[in-house]
Amino acid sequence: MSSREYVPVANGCDGRGRKRVPAMVVGLLVASLVALQLGTVASKVTYDHKAIVINGQRKILFSGSIHYPRSTPEMWPGLIQKAKDGGLDVIQTYVFWNGHEPSPGQYYFQDRYDLVHFIKLIQQAGLYVHLRIGPYICAEWNFGGFPVWLKYVPGIEFRTDNKPFKDAMEGFTKKIVDMMKAEKLFETQGGPIILSQIENEFGPLEWDQGAPAKAYTNWAANMAVGLNTGVPWVMCKQDDAPDPVINTCNGFYCDWFSPNKPNKPNMWTEAWTAWYTAFGKPVPHRPPQDMAFSVAAFIQKGGSFVNYYMYHGGTNFGRTAGGPFIATSYDYDGLIDEFGLLRQPKWGHMKDLHHAIKQCEPTIVAAGDPVVASLGHNLQSSVFKSASGGCAAFLGNFDWTAHANVTFNGKQYELPPWSISILPDCKSDVFNTARVSAQTSEMRMDTVESFSWQSHTEEINATEKVAFTNNMMMEQLNITRDKTDYLWYTTFVNIDKTEKFLSNGQDPTLTVMSSGHAMSVFVNGKLAGKEYGSIDNPGVKFTGKVKMWDGSNTISILSATVGLPNVGEHFETWNAGVIGPVTLGGLNEGSRLLTFQKWIYQIGLKGESLSLHTPAGSSSVQWGKAAVNQPLTWYKTTFNAPGGNEPLALDMSSMGKGQVWINGQSIGRYWPAYKAVGDCPACNYKGNYSEKTCQSQCGDASQKWYHVPRSWLKPTGNLMVVLEEWGGDPSGISLVKRSVGSVCAYVDATPQAKVELSCDLGKKISQIKFASYGTPSGRCGGYSEGSCHAHKSYDPFQQNCVGKQSCAMNVTAAIFGGDPCPGTLKSIAVEATCG
Ligand code: GAL
Repeated sequence: MSSREYVPVANGCDGRGRKRVPAMVVGLLVASLVALQLGTVASKVTYDHKAIVINGQRKILFSGSIHYPRSTPEMWPGLIQKAKDGGLDVIQTYVFWNGHEPSPGQYYFQDRYDLVHFIKLIQQAGLYVHLRIGPYICAEWNFGGFPVWLKYVPGIEFRTDNKPFKDAMEGFTKKIVDMMKAEKLFETQGGPIILSQIENEFGPLEWDQGAPAKAYTNWAANMAVGLNTGVPWVMCKQDDAPDPVINTCNGFYCDWFSPNKPNKPNMWTEAWTAWYTAFGKPVPHRPPQDMAFSVAAFIQKGGSFVNYYMYHGGTNFGRTAGGPFIATSYDYDGLIDEFGLLRQPKWGHMKDLHHAIKQCEPTIVAAGDPVVASLGHNLQSSVFKSASGGCAAFLGNFDWTAHANVTFNGKQYELPPWSISILPDCKSDVFNTARVSAQTSEMRMDTVESFSWQSHTEEINATEKVAFTNNMMMEQLNITRDKTDYLWYTTFVNIDKTEKFLSNGQDPTLTVMSSGHAMSVFVNGKLAGKEYGSIDNPGVKFTGKVKMWDGSNTISILSATVGLPNVGEHFETWNAGVIGPVTLGGLNEGSRLLTFQKWIYQIGLKGESLSLHTPAGSSSVQWGKAAVNQPLTWYKTTFNAPGGNEPLALDMSSMGKGQVWINGQSIGRYWPAYKAVGDCPACNYKGNYSEKTCQSQCGDASQKWYHVPRSWLKPTGNLMVVLEEWGGDPSGISLVKRSVGSVCAYVDATPQAKVELSCDLGKKISQIKFASYGTPSGRCGGYSEGSCHAHKSYDPFQQNCVGKQSCAMNVTAAIFGGDPCPGTLKSIAVEATCG
């Protein structure tokens, strides 16, 4: 175990030099006269070295990413309200170009892509918006947000000094800015948008690509600023962002960061709440204590804008997941879970952190740079003092293992390892990042419905609806343009009756090389094997013995993409599909190269072209008794919506790989057969976090539950259709309800200690399962009493909590009938059931 060396630096520790532009605000833009004429409440958004300045006031802003197409419009108001309740000031979202312009010049801004509606809901809730237009967005979103047609614009090269690309980028950026202006959504017009973003993390690529990339950066910044939004632009991870664009930090920690000019504020546009999940990988989690630590560390260095990426991650519905191999769940261990429920204690702990920092805000924004002093090895204080006498302090213990007792201004403070305490008045410690007093919620997934299925077998020999033939193997995207995951490659192989393998039983060996991402190989209509790549290596190789007969044999390869790349240098040049070579070995002639013979191409599956996933399409074919463990099979069933308002999910564990639709809406790709390979060590919040520090699901499906938005269901007669590529048992699919089972609190019995418990709206505390004031141990769902236990531990909770949605009380010995073990440090642990 090592320690992060912390070197205290005197005034100016944020590395932005000592020369400060005083509290003078760098006027970026002026409030819009037009807005004033229209009588809207317009305010000016500018910035200075301390903060974003709204209407003349510096702000410490907490922001959270919620990506509108990753949830449904019906979920948006609830998500926004939970973000507000959690202490956020701003909602940040990318803009999803490929969702908005599916084909050139044809725009879509409805339903989950109704950007204006989303922003107006945020405005109604009284929050601000940070609009990251990109239009390159990365985001584990298909093709990084670019429409696939963009790749086929003649002469185009993405994200460099290339005219066709710049024209397209400018066109879309302007389209969005104009739309926002028309709806009066910029703050200067009385709207909620206080910030925008152009590009996304281009800095590291610029270093590699040199002059044309540099020219592109300057062009992008100028183009954006020229659109006169009236609010500042940021470029994240772009050290050389040209003025007046603010360069910002993305990462797990950003306390090392400072912007490229002393007149720019220190902003953290992506504080990663964990990491995304890929099929075949474990699921990352980030402990709340470390999340809070990283944010407190940033603020104490003078940071004034923190955006949680993701506050609510949501779901990659349909084929929107990027990749390849990004899972359908984009939960991200966000503060609100994929299903829209609070993730506790993470949400509550960050709420408490925000509250503590907001108490410091008046002092911090009025003060100069913090004065940093050492309080011992790996210990430091960071103090903000304002001219009006305000004082706010952060006391940090950067050691990974050792508790510390520090003396600050003559008072003693106890600091757990890897923690920061916040003292809004330089005296009272109102919050420590490692002491979690927010409640823990144990989630339940209860089966509410199983189904009876019918099936229909997909056609394997793809000669019916042939797109074209060619005497070579062709790259997949070029043919499918990503309208479907699937492309059939079919060829015929003539086997002469003199082939020795026909009599000696030594079957020939077929080898197929694909650039990705998965493929199933059929010979004469029978599955010969399936192969798939991984997020680290999307390429695929099939090699296996195959049964062939004398005469004409059919080789049919179903190549499948699993989301297009969203990141990397020139990811638009990446290939997918079977580009060869394909060889057949073990023949009399040795090995026969099949790459350059006639190949027949069919785009997509027959069931797709018949729209079997829709109510109308599904009635166009015959369905029979459900086949089990058969590749390339369609299943259908109908069901009624379960009662209640709990979020729903499908448990797909019994299936292999495929896609699922309900009432024609795509729930997304499922792939529970892809088990997570990786390490899932015991999780510890202490020390530098990386996405591999705390993981779960090792050896299990990376994703077994698939979110079914309630609003996609009718009360009765919902059609569910499953396309299974590999073979599975649909009788094992179930619909589950997600809810809070138990809520727990575990707090140290300090003089300020308070216990708060609350169930979801509409639920009440039905029972106190456990309560102990004394020395209890264990975790939520498994507490046990210690040697010290107050016999009346249950009483106050029985009296104040049962039958209520929430309850809160101060912890004193008196309410438990007196101190059971004077002189011993005590805690209180309580677990309540929500019903
Ligand atoms: C960032 C990027 C985001 C997202 C994130 C990983 O670098 O800006 O869009 O991809 O990484 O989840």
